[in-house]
Amino acid sequence: MSPIIIVGSGLAGLSAASQILTHNIPVVMLERGAKPGGNSIKASSGINGVPTRFQLDSTDSPALFLSDTVTSAGGVFGNSTGSEKMRRQRLVEKLTGSSGEAVNWLVDEKGVELSRVCQLGGHSCARTHRGKGKLTPGFAIVSSLLESLKGSPLFEMRVGVRVTGVVKEAEEVVGVEYLSGEESGRVDGPVVFASGGFAGDARGLLARYRPDLAGIPSTNQAVEGTQPLLESVGAGLVDMEEVQVHPTGFVDGGDVEAGVKILAAEALRGEGGILVVGGKRFVNELETREHVTGVIMRDARRLETGTRQWDVQVVLDEGAAAALGSHMDFYLWKGLLKKAAVGELEPELQSTLRTYAGVVSGETKDEFGRTAFGHWGLREVTPDAVVYVGQVTPVTHFTMGGAAIDERSRVLSNQGVPIRGLWAAGEVTGGLHGQNRLGGSSLLECVVFGRIAGDEAAAFYKSHYSSVQA
Ligand code: FAD
Ligand code: SIN
Repeated sequence: MSPIIIVGSGLAGLSAASQILTHNIPVVMLERGAKPGGNSIKASSGINGVPTRFQLDSTDSPALFLSDTVTSAGGVFGNSTGSEKMRRQRLVEKLTGSSGEAVNWLVDEKGVELSRVCQLGGHSCARTHRGKGKLTPGFAIVSSLLESLKGSPLFEMRVGVRVTGVVKEAEEVVGVEYLSGEESGRVDGPVVFASGGFAGDARGLLARYRPDLAGIPSTNQAVEGTQPLLESVGAGLVDMEEVQVHPTGFVDGGDVEAGVKILAAEALRGEGGILVVGGKRFVNELETREHVTGVIMRDARRLETGTRQWDVQVVLDEGAAAALGSHMDFYLWKGLLKKAAVGELEPELQSTLRTYAGVVSGETKDEFGRTAFGHWGLREVTPDAVVYVGQVTPVTHFTMGGAAIDERSRVLSNQGVPIRGLWAAGEVTGGLHGQNRLGGSSLLECVVFGRIAGDEAAAFYKSHYSSVQA
């Protein structure tokens, strides 16, 4: 019996597979890496959901999340017209309207602990969920899904298998071609693409679509993007120039020139942390990534390094650090954040901390308009108070562009027509986030559109491939 083929073992692929198995249909997952998980396993700040039982902010709603998403998506979203505008609108409605259910699915059906909620940049409320324990959200989610999939005799994972072509016959996708070491082969069946983005593809797609970003380090490994495979069977690509440059990748003092950086999770700022240049704050740290990065590149000093990077520090107090738990343990262990007493800091930064303490206490308004301060607790800025300081710089992080899909995760041609036998979900797709993705919305899109892709591919399979009954 032919399987449904899933290309990629990140969260979008795992969500699709989980859903397909509920229909008793076999799945073959092809993964080019040696291990499953993709970028999803690295996710550090969490997944958005409104409402959930952990998110206790009664002022939030799916409508407010939608409005934040559309504002963040900017002109790329707002200036679209006609059927393209409607397509984008429907995707965003599906994403935000299904967000509570997506988090609940992970918690209630897959046993992932996601009880801590934090406010990230560009969000009006705290709605990004991660766990309280030692596991980062990406690892916790991916390992739970993998564990449940491995229990099924209908699920087969093949690692070290790179899909090199999509097979289309008589206007229908009927399989993929692959390379595995020296061996090449073909698998037949309908196909779900969940192969991720191209923020690490500096010499390939990034150079083609955004040559101006050359030399900026990345949070992504240097691997090839896969959108051309979809393009080769007629898929429309959208927003390929829209690349997210995250404001904070750590600059490791031991390897300043590194082209791949460890991300300084946005939760560091969400839990109260600040950014400083020359000891002074310069931006509302909870503005969108696009905005914060733009201000850094405009106002901060360029470091004199071969890698293009800027001179910025992130600073946390003990309240924010405690809320971040094992994240902090990792960054401190890596030497990316250093503990210091306030009295040891440069005078400008001491003064900045006193001003910020006044803002957090409500004594003064923030000159940059920040209104959420997470768990920042430092109000009395004495010389022996403890803070944590790290060097950060903008990093290419996420690609908003990719294959056009509709709200049923069907891959669309340049003319907007669904390509039979082909679905896509996650970062390989484009058009959902416009010119800026909100933190926490990528894991969310993987779950929402991955599950939809799984259900849609299963329905197609039942009517076209086998005797499995609906
Ligand atoms: P991936 O998880 O990247 O998986 C794609 C898989 O496809 C990979 O394993 C890849 O090897 C495989 N593949 C690619 N091409 C082929 C091929 N030709 N043949 C076979 N296999 C192939 N987002 C959030 O929402 N919240 C966060 O907290 C968060 N933190 C992040 C932290 C870091 C450090 C990074 C890098 C990203 C973070 N993101 C976060 C973004 C998010 O993790 C990714 O955008 C998302 O996980 C993408 O999931 P995916 O399933 O689409 O792709
Ligand atoms: C981060 O932790 O800053 C990344 C979150 C995201 O990309 O959504």
